[in-house]
Amino acid sequence: MEVNKKYFAGKTAIVTGAASGIGLALIEELLACGTNKVVLADFNRANLEKHMTRLAGQYPGKVKGILCDVTHEENVKSMIVDALDFFGGKIDLLINNAGAGFAGCFVAPADPDVIDKIGCRAQTNEDWEKAFALNFYGALYGCREAIPLMRKQGGGQIVNIISGIAFYNMPYQSMYAATKAALNAMTLSLRAEFWDDNIKISSATPGTTATAIWEGKSMPKGIQTPQQSARKILAGIAENKRIIFGDDGDISGSKNCFNDDCQEIPDQYLLNIARQRRTGNFIV
Ligand code: NAI
Repeated sequence: MEVNKKYFAGKTAIVTGAASGIGLALIEELLACGTNKVVLADFNRANLEKHMTRLAGQYPGKVKGILCDVTHEENVKSMIVDALDFFGGKIDLLINNAGAGFAGCFVAPADPDVIDKIGCRAQTNEDWEKAFALNFYGALYGCREAIPLMRKQGGGQIVNIISGIAFYNMPYQSMYAATKAALNAMTLSLRAEFWDDNIKISSATPGTTATAIWEGKSMPKGIQTPQQSARKILAGIAENKRIIFGDDGDISGSKNCFNDDCQEIPDQYLLNIARQRRTGNFIV
């Protein structure tokens, strides 16, 4: 996938959840494009320090790591203020990428063995609140802090990382699906709301990507590398796409998930997934 490097050259960018996986690959690709300065924001101190040190050696003066738990609004606010200072007063791009997969049973299954087979338990209200705090509110706080700054500086760009699950709502991941569908809905509302302020706002699905999110599960065939996903996302950002699709599965899923002419397609597909997952085969 060709990235339009010129689009990113000289810009400033923040990526949350940047200490591993897709976020880290986004940072590396942005630096390779000639981005002037980047901020890695993450709550994993060890990974943040490791990658910040490595990248700062490669790109002196261009990289800052900021410890930030995106589930706390005050953390996000101060991270953005620090980033603005490091960038010299302008944030061109914010990618709200921090997130997690949250698989589990909606209620305790009739067959208790299912919990062992799919490797997760029935989810509580507390679990739901934690999932929304990270996958939805984390990005909301980033948008709410960055938009007024971007409006003041005459424009900017925000990309919220969703998932194909926002359209193709996988069983045993109702919580993950709900958080990402909500994030997508908020993102696309904001896109129109701030278009005339010259703030470009998009959703991006990375596509199925080999990262820590798959820990404890067998990775599907044909899974992309974080670098491949990052390049697709950056290519879409440069084109200001409304929704950036990270792989072909996400594109075809988005076409038939709400199509009245072919409702049986997602039904059959997702029913098969539910039956497979119940046996311990966590397919996608
Ligand atoms: P990852 O687990 O490798 O990276 C997630 C990063 O977010 C980690 O560095 C982690 O420390 C950080 N993080 C978690 N909670 C945080 C918090 N409260 N505050 C700040 N940082 C926090 O996972 P991956 O796969 O790179 O995920 C990135 C995004 O891509 C997520 O939003 C995920 O939902 C999405 N995604 C991933 C897919 C995949 O197949 N890997 C598919 C679809 C979407």
